[in-house]
Amino acid sequence: MRLKDKVAIVTGSASGIGRATAQLFAKEGARVLAVDLPGKSLADTHKAHPAIAALEIDITADGAPKRIVDEAVARFGKLDIVMNNAGIGANALAEAMTREAWDRVLAVNLTAPFLICQQAIPYLRASGAGRIINVASVMAEGTDYGLSAYCASKAGVAGFTRTLALELGKFAVTANYLLPGAIRTGMTSPLWDARPEVADVWSKKSALRRLGQPEDLAKAALFLASDDGAFVTGHGLTVDGGLMLRV
Ligand SMILES: NC(=O)c1ccc[n+]([C@@H]2O[C@H](COP(=O)([O-])OP(=O)(O)OC[C@H]3O[C@@H](n4cnc5c(N)ncnc54)[C@H](O)[C@@H]3O)[C@@H](O)[C@H]2O)c1
Repeated sequence: MRLKDKVAIVTGSASGIGRATAQLFAKEGARVLAVDLPGKSLADTHKAHPAIAALEIDITADGAPKRIVDEAVARFGKLDIVMNNAGIGANALAEAMTREAWDRVLAVNLTAPFLICQQAIPYLRASGAGRIINVASVMAEGTDYGLSAYCASKAGVAGFTRTLALELGKFAVTANYLLPGAIRTGMTSPLWDARPEVADVWSKKSALRRLGQPEDLAKAALFLASDDGAFVTGHGLTVDGGLMLRV
């Protein structure tokens, strides 16, 4: 029960890393507001977990950041942990990237997480042990063809999280970000199921010779959210099985 009496928000929690994290946090004693888009069977996904409440909302919608934070506080009376996990990709060479695709990736991956943090700050300060965990990617530091918008958004997440760590440290609020490697989730499975050889390449590239599972990230998030992570702030925690060791 490493999160006993804690209240958490986890965005993008109908699937993948967010789903695993919401459920692990609940198992460890937290009450969790799970957030995801409408039509993703969010409540159904978590129905075996009474400590998880579901809020269906697009995090980029007008007023959504405030609604999300207000909902957590109205339901549970306080807020200790925010995990900005919802994210999307866009795959197009820079020359062909549409303005619409660029804007959408930046809105979901960067601007909405910043605005959710901003709304949460007063409650995290009041918590006495506030925690911000933003999900970036190894692509915050690396890159690949077609990933200009995604890489820009994730590098931005790393940058603003470090700044939050600096600004909020005096209130005992930590702010860290995760850098997942190749993880089998709703984002990657469609491609890897269609082209198993691609999954195989990612798997063999990692020192541990396997793909990551959502639970690998959930456990890292639990460390940062719990008292064990109290002196870790402004840190980017790579959880990639050694994928990026070799250049
Ligand atoms: N899977 C990987 O290999 C990998 C690697 C590095 C980083 N990441 C990051 O991990 C995070 C979680 O992704 P995942 O791999 O679990 O993918 P996923 O697709 O399984 O889960 C992402 C969830 O975010 C939700 N979401 C997307 N846009 C939203 C919006 N506007 N409002 C509310 N919810 C929204 C989706 O509906 C989905 O349920 C993302 O930020 C992603 O960029 C994933």
